[in-house]
Parts: sequence; structure tokens; C-alpha cells
Amino acid sequence: MERTLSIVKPDAVAAGNAGKIIALLEENLRPIAMKMMHLDRKQAEGFYAVHRERPFFADLCDFMTSGPVVIMVLEGENAIARYRELMGATNPAQAAEGTIRKQFATNIERNAVHGSDAPETAAFEISYFFSKLELHSRG
Ligand code: CMP
Repeated sequence: MERTLSIVKPDAVAAGNAGKIIALLEENLRPIAMKMMHLDRKQAEGFYAVHRERPFFADLCDFMTSGPVVIMVLEGENAIARYRELMGATNPAQAAEGTIRKQFATNIERNAVHGSDAPETAAFEISYFFSKLELHSRG
């Protein structure tokens, strides 16, 4: 059993697509925790700290603080890889048919969803937003 962090990004929430995306996730994985937040600058910068030297970091943080997001912990067998497959490529122009990003993303920045890329990042990202008390295994 594995856990991963999912964020429905401001573009998808503003477009009214959060519910459709959550429904797709529920068909494949179990959400075990969920919250809506409007991130402030510090929260966004801390979450994306691994990208702080990248040229897109400031724009990414501007975008991620531009409106509310829906943050979830998803649980299931092989959850990290399965959710990444469901999301599709980071750049929606390269995302496969039927993936979330193919359906809902606009470009590499406004790409509808975030997902953890490895067990270590999932552990960091889950603990960044959720306390142990907020995580209820439904397995
Ligand atoms: P995400 O999975 O949230 O992790 C980092 C984000 O940076 C990524 O999705 C993209 O939305 C964003 N990003 C913006 N520009 C780029 C870029 N040129 N290369 C990779 N990621 C980018």
C-alpha cells in the first residue's frame, strides 16, 4: 500500500473542473484526506523548494498562489506510479489521450494537477500539508 499527494491546481479549480478530476481519481485510488487552501507565497515556495533554482520557479509560485487549490492524499497499491499515469505528461502537449492533463491542462505551467514523483517526495509533500491525525487509512 502506498500514498501520494495530489493537488488540483488553481487553473482547474477556477475552471470548475475540481469535481470532475476528483471523480476520475476516485475511480482509480482512494482519497484518504482532502482540503481546499489558497496558498500564500511562503507556503508555495516551501512546497516547491526543490525547484527554487529553476528559471520557472517565480512564475510557478505566482500561479500556485493565484487561487484556491484542492489538496488530497491518495492511497492504493502502487499509488505514486498509477496517479502519475493518470495525470499524463507534465506538458499537456505530450500527454496521452484520456489523461487528466490531456483533458484539463492548458500548458506546462497551467497543467491542472500535481502529483508526487517518488516515495521520498510523497512523504515530504504529505507531511507538508497534513498531520498524522488528518490521515485516515481506508484500506
Ligand atoms: P508539478 O508536477 O506541479 O511540479 C513542478 C511544476 O513546475 C510542474 O508541475 C509544472 O507545472 C511547472 N513548470 C513550469 N514550467 C516548467 C518547465 N519548463 N519544466 C518543468 N516544469 C515546469
